[in-house]
Amino acid sequence: MKQVSYDEVIEQLSFKESIQVMKDCFNDHENGTIAQRERMVEILPDGKDKNIFALMPAYLGEKRYFGAKIITAFPDNHSLNLPSHVGEVMLFDSQNGLPVALINANAITWIRTAAVSALATNFLAKEDSSILTLLGTGQQASSHLEAILCVRPIKVVRVYDLNQKAAAAFIERMQANHPELEFINSNNLREAVEHSDIVCTLTPSKEAFLEADFISAGTHINAIGTFTPTTRELKSELMVKGKVYIDDYEAALKESGDLLIPIAEGLMKEENIVGSLGELVTDKVAGRANIEEITIFDAVGLAVEDLCCAEYIYKKLK
Ligand SMILES: NC(=O)c1ccc[n+]([C@@H]2O[C@H](COP(=O)([O-])OP(=O)(O)OC[C@H]3O[C@@H](n4cnc5c(N)ncnc54)[C@H](O)[C@@H]3O)[C@@H](O)[C@H]2O)c1
Repeated sequence: MKQVSYDEVIEQLSFKESIQVMKDCFNDHENGTIAQRERMVEILPDGKDKNIFALMPAYLGEKRYFGAKIITAFPDNHSLNLPSHVGEVMLFDSQNGLPVALINANAITWIRTAAVSALATNFLAKEDSSILTLLGTGQQASSHLEAILCVRPIKVVRVYDLNQKAAAAFIERMQANHPELEFINSNNLREAVEHSDIVCTLTPSKEAFLEADFISAGTHINAIGTFTPTTRELKSELMVKGKVYIDDYEAALKESGDLLIPIAEGLMKEENIVGSLGELVTDKVAGRANIEEITIFDAVGLAVEDLCCAEYIYKKLK
């Protein structure tokens, strides 16, 4: 069985490639040729109420592969100088059931989450989007920057993090890779997001913090950070104000606090969801209609994304 390390995943799967792999993945998922089971996301009974263990299975078809991502999310790992998300994707051959590869899941999650956001951004953000705001400057911030640079002509990157030191360190690292970009470290949330073209929420916040009033007309938001029914980043009023798209109806309506909380409050209905990424990719629904509307892509993350990336890497290395 092949073992693929973090560095090998990064070498084999560029952001440009991963956006195409995700486009094919959402096309296949929408057409029903690949499938996933509801994932198991357990908060560990360690009394801390925040450390997560998740098992995410998916099947890509008879002549392809199947398997699962098995991953943990320990938000405090940074203080130990460790990544917050670690685990493996285990890949099996659909023709004989043999395990063929164990692939670093932290690297796959890092890349595929941002690739999915970039794919959605390509349908939903204004063509000439040049200001990107990253809320949260952890692991996902760097991959979101790289992936969104593949689809929009970004010139200015504003960042905001509750941890100012993390934001400053992030800018120092990113500025070295991208001298052409202007980075702004904002210690004010409103200033960070106002008149921004694309906002990515990339935090493990338990409480909604992004206000409707802060967001200007024409902004596209990728709401990525939270994926349990009781946690969220966007206030209900913002969800009501925006045109909401999701990664998958079944998963979002079970897991997305951004969606489920305003629905429970009676402020939103399931029917207010404009469409899924699969529907965008297959032209069943339209993306941005004008330069005024606020669009929101709310993603909880799907097992099919991990398995499609794992298959792509395995086939490349074989
Ligand atoms: N939807 C998906 O598919 C998907 C995939 C991967 C990760 N995630 C989630 O995305 C989030 C970010 O992931 P990561 O790996 O970058 O995490 P991380 O722990 O590396 O970084 C999170 C950063 O957010 C900051 N932060 C926390 N609360 C904040 C707030 N209210 N405002 C501003 N900054 C705040 C922290 O200081 C930290 O720097 C996590 O919650 C993770 O579980 C979602």
